Amino acid sequence: MIMSIVCECFQVTEETIREAIRNGATTVEAVGDVTQAGTGCGGCQSRIEEIINEEKK
Ligand code: FES
Repeated sequence: MIMSIVCECFQVTEETIREAIRNGATTVEAVGDVTQAGTGCGGCQSRIEEIINEEKK
């Protein structure tokens, strides 16, 4: 399985982010609290937002 890194700053994979969302982290901030993703340079935040919106479907 290919692990795609969403957050380069903390090497957080898409799967880790999806898991956090499924466990109740439904905002970019909450995902950051749980996984650190998005809490460095912030460059991946728009991608995190997209993933949240995908998971809400
Ligand atoms: S790439 Fe995610 S905070 Fe920098």
